[in-house]
Amino acid sequence: MLYRRIARPLFFGMAGRDAESIHGRVLGGLAAASRSPALTRAVAMAGELSAGPIPSSLAREVFGLRFPNPIGLAAGFDKNAVAIPALAALGFGFVEVGTVTRLPQPGNPRPRLFRIVSDEALINRMGFNNDGAQVVAARLAGLPRQSIPIGVSLGKSKVTPLDDAIDDYLGSLDLLYAWGDYFAVNISSPNTPGLRDLQARDRLDALLSALMARLRERAAAAGRAQPKPLLVKVAPDLDDAALDDVVDVCLARGASGLVAVNTTIARDGLGAWVPRELREQAGGLSGRPLHARAAEVVARLHRLAGDRLPIIGCGGVFHGDDARRLFDAGASLIQLYTSFIYEGPNVARDICHDLLAEVAPSPTPPPLTRERG
Ligand SMILES: Cc1cc2nc3c(=O)[nH]c(=O)nc-3n(C[C@H](O)[C@H](O)[C@H](O)COP(=O)(O)O)c2cc1C
Repeated sequence: MLYRRIARPLFFGMAGRDAESIHGRVLGGLAAASRSPALTRAVAMAGELSAGPIPSSLAREVFGLRFPNPIGLAAGFDKNAVAIPALAALGFGFVEVGTVTRLPQPGNPRPRLFRIVSDEALINRMGFNNDGAQVVAARLAGLPRQSIPIGVSLGKSKVTPLDDAIDDYLGSLDLLYAWGDYFAVNISSPNTPGLRDLQARDRLDALLSALMARLRERAAAAGRAQPKPLLVKVAPDLDDAALDDVVDVCLARGASGLVAVNTTIARDGLGAWVPRELREQAGGLSGRPLHARAAEVVARLHRLAGDRLPIIGCGGVFHGDDARRLFDAGASLIQLYTSFIYEGPNVARDICHDLLAEVAPSPTPPPLTRERG
């Protein structure tokens, strides 16, 4: 409430039209808090005081990993793994860092992030701006062991031709292997030319075969019974046949799960009032307008894969009922990004409490409805 009434108008007003600069400042603050254990503890205490602690009854095990709660931060917010301790202190049950590419890259020219406040949405065409796998691996190596699982999202470097994509992903996986609890293959961002072609059956098959082989080699060398989990993140713009192909290939190659969904290139979820110059910005749309499609995709994937491929549901989750919709569609865990911008630092805690309130027995029985007549 305080965030929506006071902090958000200040943040949104302060940076004028450049949404990315305020994002950078917030991330910078979280990174500073992450470097000091005392500040990290202060972040956790402030969250607990204002939104309450998250009960351990929300913990769950998925992909062989233990999640203290099912609400995670989606890839793209902490691309360079600078703020994990503070994000854990804010109550996220897991954090997916990245997308990280084998080579460092600046991403697309700015402006490349746009708010559509009326629709609680964002359009971005960041283009995988990140420090590269080597630097991110060194940063992760310097972190103390975290209390939450850390996912690492892997993407293709822009300069790498599509035909060399496999080596590019393998190079990133090798550098980051020790530091990820799970890995997500990002082949669904709309902002790297050609990337989404990797979702096509044959290309995906080759990519997953190579990545799974490398994960199995690594597991054998380390004496692990199972390879680390590998998930595939899908685009909401795939049609049913393409989604079916992704599931088939994931099952055939032994992937552990799916992340559904990335941002969409469609604009049909936006209200008619959104000005053309905003609606027509190139890039991926996220937030509220994505939610219905995210639920559809999760349901489709779950119908096909059942429990064989647990799904992280992602797209327009702002409150407990949005999370519940994705759980009901078949998701095992949830991720969010856009609602962190719109709802503020307590969003994960608030959703956890919404979920608990939903299942808790009602303190007073509902009044009996009197029959007519
Ligand atoms: C600014 C921005 C940057 C993003 N960058 C990435 C990224 O690097 N890798 C990725 O897999 N998804 C990225 N995403 C997509 C999110 O992880 C998520 O899939 C999508 O935004 C839908 O969730 P939401 O509606 O809760 O934001 C990005 C989203 C936004 C808004």
